[in-house]
Amino acid sequence: MAVDRCTLRFITCGSVDDGKSTLIGRLLHESKSIFEDQLAALETDSRQYGTQGERIDFALLVDGLQAEREQGITIDVAYRFFATDKRRFIVADTPGHEQYTRNMATGASTAVLAIILVDARKGVLTQTRRHTRIVAMMGIRHVVLAVNKMDLVGFNESTFNSIVADFRQFAEASGFLSIQAMPLSALEGDNVVFTSSRTPWYSGPGLLPYLDSVETDADAVHSAFRMPVQWVNRPNLDFRGFCGRVAQGEVRPGDQIRILPSGVESRVKEIVVWQGNKECAIGGEAVTITLADEVDVSRGDMIVSAADPPQVADQFEARLLWMSEHPMVAGRPYLLKLHAKEVTATVSAIKYREDVNNGAHLAARSLGLNEIGVVNISMSQAVAFEPYSVSRILGGFILIDKLSLETLGAGMIDFALRRANNIHWQALEIDRKARALIKHQKPCCIWFTGLSGSGKSTIANLLEKRLHAEERHTYILDGDNVRHGLNRDLGFTEADRVENIRRIAEVARLMVDAGLIVLVSFISPFSSERRMARELFADGEFIEVFVDTSLEECERRDPKGLYAKARRGELKNFTGIDSAYEPPEHPEVRLESGIKPENCVEKIMAEINRKPD
Ligand code: ADX
Repeated sequence: MAVDRCTLRFITCGSVDDGKSTLIGRLLHESKSIFEDQLAALETDSRQYGTQGERIDFALLVDGLQAEREQGITIDVAYRFFATDKRRFIVADTPGHEQYTRNMATGASTAVLAIILVDARKGVLTQTRRHTRIVAMMGIRHVVLAVNKMDLVGFNESTFNSIVADFRQFAEASGFLSIQAMPLSALEGDNVVFTSSRTPWYSGPGLLPYLDSVETDADAVHSAFRMPVQWVNRPNLDFRGFCGRVAQGEVRPGDQIRILPSGVESRVKEIVVWQGNKECAIGGEAVTITLADEVDVSRGDMIVSAADPPQVADQFEARLLWMSEHPMVAGRPYLLKLHAKEVTATVSAIKYREDVNNGAHLAARSLGLNEIGVVNISMSQAVAFEPYSVSRILGGFILIDKLSLETLGAGMIDFALRRANNIHWQALEIDRKARALIKHQKPCCIWFTGLSGSGKSTIANLLEKRLHAEERHTYILDGDNVRHGLNRDLGFTEADRVENIRRIAEVARLMVDAGLIVLVSFISPFSSERRMARELFADGEFIEVFVDTSLEECERRDPKGLYAKARRGELKNFTGIDSAYEPPEHPEVRLESGIKPENCVEKIMAEINRKPD
């Protein structure tokens, strides 16, 4: 956002019952504003900041509106605009029910102040605490504690004081710079514009005058230049412009810049906007930058001041607010979106989960809906960023489900983890090609997936015998066996199964690297982990074999008596009974039940030999 001291963006938190709508309605009424909608505002924005005709205007809309829409998190946030003769206000009005925390987090991410509403009759509730934590986590430093419905408690001073004391005690650790408590009756108008004669004991300001005059720390104006590249504009061979919104600092033609993460340097040639060229662009402005040299820049890169660049890392510690009904699973690949960059990322460790009521650190293996935790995140590539405390734009990210594209969590980067940067690949002289050559074979991974009892191990055994007879070098990794050793610490929860597959995929990769033909026989019930395994191998090196035996048939066979146990309720999380199996959509080989094991082996051999040695 452009630094604009005349505009105050704030959020109201509380439930409908606390009188939130009444309060907003009252503010709008008192300031005699008209309602506008977000689109209209963005249209104004894009007219103001648009650079080059149609396409750029679209990019701006994508930036401000559609990007959020795509994330599916603004749908229930209504932005209301109103103004007094001193200030313009943008208020994010979000539903108060617990399941709508995601909307609240979205609203809070651009606000500098939060009005936290409490019903004077009820006092501070768990929800008040949750909202306050989220507000603090999203970087809001100024809070108004609006103790509403004072008319229903007879404007009692001690009721007000005890709620304020309660709140202050709890909010102390949240790092707010100001907490202004006010006794209100939004319905009857007490202390909204004028201080009320019914609260003679209250000497503070009314709400609207307070909002008019409160000093909030706007984003630092004098920080170093950073611009995430949203789009590379290349209409013809003579023009190559990098479009984006300046996140912070300022830039001028002639400035020495660096492209991150590559680290290549160049100089700014021109700053182009639709009216023409500019001599300077500052934080909040959307511009197109051209460079003096032909350098490689793509969407998601960051153009920064060469003298004062931000950090680049592929692992960091972050706070994470989980916003999905489906719990977070460490080790599962998610899509991470940080400024204009999208990468694959996994939660590599959960440090702790926070108790919303008292901030206590709780041990956790997962995060559920509305839970907040501190985690380590590991990304598939290094990205440039700032800690969230320095920049909300460059340090705030979201996690997205790769298949459904649902937004799952909102994160705030605390700091980079240096560990991976300091571990380098050891260059080894005997490479995989050399190892495969003396074994006279093309190494590969044959990945069997299917229900327990589907016949994976039987077929894998037969296949190994066949390969062995042909003097091929093989190894079988079998779920039951590996779970006695390497994966002895893992059970059958979703999180443990994800970790089970992650480890086995890594081991299989090492074995293929060693020159072996590896047969992996695990239920591997989730498609996202099978995809993760596949991505570890080169094209043609990963052969997914779906042993497609129906649940009824597996249960009829029940070789280990486990289905019967699961049906009796003695075995929890059993695949096919009370834990899901996601069948592969495009396996290299699909084996229906009814095909004799010997014929199954032939089908797989055909696939192995399809790729010539
Ligand atoms: S996976 O889901 O994590 O891939 P894996 O293949 O390692 O499972 O282990 C499956 C084997 O463990 C089954 O063949 C069965 O013998 C045994 N088992 C024990 N409990 C369960 C359970 N709850 N669900 C599935 N298999 C189980």
